[in-house]
Formats: sequence, structure tokens, C-alpha cells
Amino acid sequence: MSSASTSTSTAAAGAARPRTRVGKYQLGRTLGQGSFAKVKFATNTETGDRVAIKIIQRDQILHHRMVEQIKREISTMKLIKHPNVVNLVEVMASKTKIYIVLEYVDGGELFDEIAKYGKLDENSARRYFQQLINAVDYCHSRGVYHRDLKPENLLRDSYGTLKVSDFGLSAISKQVRDDGLLHTACGTPNYVAPEVLTDKGYDGTSADVWSCGVILFVLMAGYLPFDEPNLMALYRKIERAIFFLPSWFSSGAKDVIKRILDPNPVTRMTIPEILEHEWFREDYKAPHFEQDEDVNLDDVDAVFSNNQDHLVTERIEKPVSMNAFELISRSEGFSLENLFNKQTGLVKRETCFTSKRPANEIMSKIEEAAKPMGFNVNKRNYKMKLKGDRTGRKGQLAVVTEVFEVAPSLHMVELRKTGGDTLEFHKFYKNFSSGLKDIVWSGESNSNDDQSTST
Ligand code: ADE
Repeated sequence: MSSASTSTSTAAAGAARPRTRVGKYQLGRTLGQGSFAKVKFATNTETGDRVAIKIIQRDQILHHRMVEQIKREISTMKLIKHPNVVNLVEVMASKTKIYIVLEYVDGGELFDEIAKYGKLDENSARRYFQQLINAVDYCHSRGVYHRDLKPENLLRDSYGTLKVSDFGLSAISKQVRDDGLLHTACGTPNYVAPEVLTDKGYDGTSADVWSCGVILFVLMAGYLPFDEPNLMALYRKIERAIFFLPSWFSSGAKDVIKRILDPNPVTRMTIPEILEHEWFREDYKAPHFEQDEDVNLDDVDAVFSNNQDHLVTERIEKPVSMNAFELISRSEGFSLENLFNKQTGLVKRETCFTSKRPANEIMSKIEEAAKPMGFNVNKRNYKMKLKGDRTGRKGQLAVVTEVFEVAPSLHMVELRKTGGDTLEFHKFYKNFSSGLKDIVWSGESNSNDDQSTST
């Protein structure tokens, strides 16, 4: 590959991508994706603070006739400030989405540690379990139940402090009956209490305690207490609490786990009993935290009211501007006729051209040129992925195009083969470039210049 094309790809890799803004937050990478919500990393552009934003489609929760309960739980979560619970910073809404802004926890999931090192030693497991019980006890005392405690909801910061996420938010994906008992349709069955599985309605307190017992077992054993490939067999084991305690568990740990994994929620160990247990009390540090007196709930009221005044919009920032250096490094490619490298005669995998047309028009023209050739078009901001519908010698031809802003009325379009045969790419390119003739600007004054009115 020629040095010119290499420098093009290097510059392309270094150029920033279009970014999405929601209110004062700039969205970044996806941290997690569940059935109801996506979690994205974001930065507060005013303070530089890092946050995680949970994004929920509004129609998914409004259909569930649960708005009042969700509002109540989100309000309570705003009031909860505990070192072992992921802090809820604020709530925002657009016409179609609800954004729950959360403290960003920088150490990943606790269970990454298990995946990496196998089981934890008993002291480390106890330390995490103590923090988990502190978090659960605090939230229960304020009437908030988790109902979905599982490994994905246990995060760690860089100091090794446990942070439980999604407290009070599981209501969003659950159905609630009028009798005040909680009913759940789904959940990770391995961590779910027997009375939840039998769906007779249950008390959130003892169901959360059961999940804490399963978590403690996994931390110390490195595997699940109830695990069967067949769902019915798994349910049977959970309902009868059939599990085996590994020999390396101390007698104190065995006692706690046996009493928590009691299939009868009425006789199951309670949080006050756990807090008093000798095994639990070893090296126990009571959490220190202050209650923030001035929590403002205006954002929660605004999100759940019909008032449209406070709605935010998800804005995609315009194509990324390119600096002079990046522009010069690509200057060899400023023509649609440049697919062959002049020195080597080889077909290049990438090329670029300039246009004085507005970015949206360029995107439409590219789409119009690609579709009749049988390409499947996938657009995202100012980037487009084109996939051929036939399989060539080296697999399906795939091309990516991206529009960059060079100056307010000048765009550069980059075109790169990402898959398939180079000769097929050349054939495609010949057809494609003739469809784009109208929008290419060669640098000299030509008829297209008169149309260059983009702002
Ligand atoms: N993944 C889900 N929630 C998160 C959070 N609050 N911080 C970091 N990663 C997360």
C-alpha cells in the first residue's frame, strides 16, 4: 500500500467522530445493554464529571401502567446517598426517552474478579458481602427493594468499594399486582428466591436476602449453588434449596449460607440476624455517610409530568471539522479518478473527494448511488456502511463512507473498502463515482461551485 493511502487511514483513525449530546452531557461508549435499557458512558460538559446514563424508551414504561411506582422509586433513589449504592444524579426526558444519570463506577463488575481469578478468599468475600448487606439494609429501610440482585448489578470502584446498581429501577421491568406483593415475570433464575419462582407473590425483603446468599456462595466457591442446564431441574433445586457446601468454607460461613438459603421466606435469616452473626461481624466496618438534606426532586416531577418545557433533545453534532494538517495529509486523494496509485499502479482500498454540497445532500447522493447497485445501506450520523448483496471471491463487498467538514462550506468524503475483493471494489467504484459526479468539487472553479451554499 502506498504511503499516501497509509497516511490517509492514519489521519482517519485520528479524526474525532460525530458526537451525541443530551442536555449538558456528551454521550460516549455503551457500558451495558439490557432488555429494557442501554447504559452509556457520558461526560458532563460543564464540570467534566464522568457519569453513566441509563436510557429507557418512554413507551416501554408508560405501557406498563407503572408510572406512579417508578416515579416514587426514582424519587426515593434520589434521596438515597450511600457509599455502597450507585448514586442517582438526575433524571431527564426527551419526547421518546428517559435518561437516568448515575454515578460512574470505574472498576467494572465485581464478577470480573471471579472470572479472572476464580473464587475469592473468605476475607475478601466477607468484605464484599458486608458492603452488599449494608446497601440492601439501607435501601430496605427506605422502602426500596432491588428484586433483581445479580452479578451484573455489583460494580466496584478503583478503591475496591462495592456499589450496587439498579436499586429501585427494577420496577421498570416488572409487573406489580394490586395486592401489594411483588410479581416478576423474568430475572436471572440462578439468583432468584423460590417464592419468586412459584409466583405466589412475595415480600421484597426476604427475596433480596436470598439473592445475597447466592452471591456470597458464588464469591467463595467460584461457581453457582443452583445450576442445571434444564430450567425445570433448576427450579426444582431452588424450590427445595438443594445445594452442597464446599469443604473449604469455614463453619461460620456455612452457617450463614445455610440459614439464608432457606426455601421458607418466613424462617429465612433476616438482615438484623445477619448483622449480629459472629462470622459477619469479623472486621466489620459500619458505613459512614451523610444524608444530603437539600435534594431537589424538580427533575423527577418534570420527567413524569405532561409538561413539555423541560424536555431535552438528543443532538448529533455536525460532521467533525478537520484541521489543516489532516487536510494536507489527504490532499493526494482529492479526486474521484484517484483510485489507482500513480506510482505502483495498484488499486487502493480507500480514496476521498471533496464536495461543496451540504453534508445531508452528500449522504443522500451516496445512498442514491449505492442502492440501485444492490447495496444494503446502513447510516449512522455522517457515516454510511454499504454491504453488497452478492458474495464475491473474497466474501461480501463492504464499503464505508464518511463525511468530514473541512470548512463551513467544504466537505471531504472518505471512501474505504472494509471487506471483499479489491477488483470488485474497483468495478463498484467506477459505477458509483459516475453517480456522484454532480457533487464532486475538483478545486477549480466549476459549475458546481455556484451551488455551494451550505452553511
Ligand atoms: N454499567 C452499568 N452501570 C454503570 C455505572 N453506573 N458505572 C459504570 N458502568 C456501569
